[in-house]
Amino acid sequence: MIDRIVNTGAEPTDPVEVELEVTLRPQDFSSYIGQERLKQNLQLAISAAKKRDEPMDHVLLYGPPGLGKTTMASVIANEMGAQIRITSGPAIERAGDLASLLTNLQDGDILFIDEIHRLNRTVEEVLYSAMEDFKLDIMLGKGPSARSLRLDLPKFTIIGATTRAGALAGPLRDRFGHIHRLEFYTPSEVQQIIERAAGILEVKIDRAAAGELATRARLTPRIANRLLKRVRDYADVNGDGIIDTVISSQALQLLEIDELGLDPADRMLLAAIIDSYNGGPVGVETLAALTAEERTTIEDFIEPYLMQIGLLERTPRGRRVTSKTYKHLGKTMPAATESLL
Ligand code: ADE
Repeated sequence: MIDRIVNTGAEPTDPVEVELEVTLRPQDFSSYIGQERLKQNLQLAISAAKKRDEPMDHVLLYGPPGLGKTTMASVIANEMGAQIRITSGPAIERAGDLASLLTNLQDGDILFIDEIHRLNRTVEEVLYSAMEDFKLDIMLGKGPSARSLRLDLPKFTIIGATTRAGALAGPLRDRFGHIHRLEFYTPSEVQQIIERAAGILEVKIDRAAAGELATRARLTPRIANRLLKRVRDYADVNGDGIIDTVISSQALQLLEIDELGLDPADRMLLAAIIDSYNGGPVGVETLAALTAEERTTIEDFIEPYLMQIGLLERTPRGRRVTSKTYKHLGKTMPAATESLL
């Protein structure tokens, strides 16, 4: 995937960015802005589990990247007073890797598995019984002399995160007591997140400029924090370090991010649907070829936001732009298309 500022990635790998996320990550529900319904549900589950002195049921968090699934997992651990171990689907290659992770846990610990839809089948099957009755079934040896061994595990909680709940095998999904979708944030929540981050990073930004960044951050905290950093660089070099709307507009123009948070690659994708396919419908495979992106990149990273703001629709026959897309790109909608929308 090409390096775009609006990329939400899976989790950042650049050390500076990792540090930024960790520094800005809220520690508890009171400093976590947004996702109000999810917080209420989790708070209730946590209070009930604590009252019974039991670990929480397993939690599955799904939704577009960058909305705070990992952050929420560490907040849950803090609120439970539990230790959290962090891993990911692709990192657990063999049943033995999972066995070693699970046997090293203690009662009440949380195991966070990011990209849980990428676990392989063998590992997934070992995970089922571990999640269900805290037992680990391992096969020793092969052929006629093979024996199975059943180990007791500590009472742990799995928090799984995925961008695609649909890609999870049914039996695995069924073993989660709590399944929640993270929603896009409202512009006002994103503005509060920017103002909070600016406070922590000691960046001077005025209210209007924070509002402007918020409208261009694709309703996503990870992008909001990244934009804040880039605009701060611009303010340090081209001004006195203070971010006002003049500085933020200039910086965003340089980054080629428009009023809706679209970058040139998004605009190219939408323009291609209009120019080459009359506004659609067009199949996702064709879009993948047009943009030289993987199908899953388009589906998981690019489309969710475009659909959220009404610039793209998924139909059974493919993707279609809307009248708002024509307007945003300054293109005239053909009369025949207009009657179809
Ligand atoms: N930083 C990133 N996401 C956040 C959130 N939801 N609340 C507060 N700060 C954040």
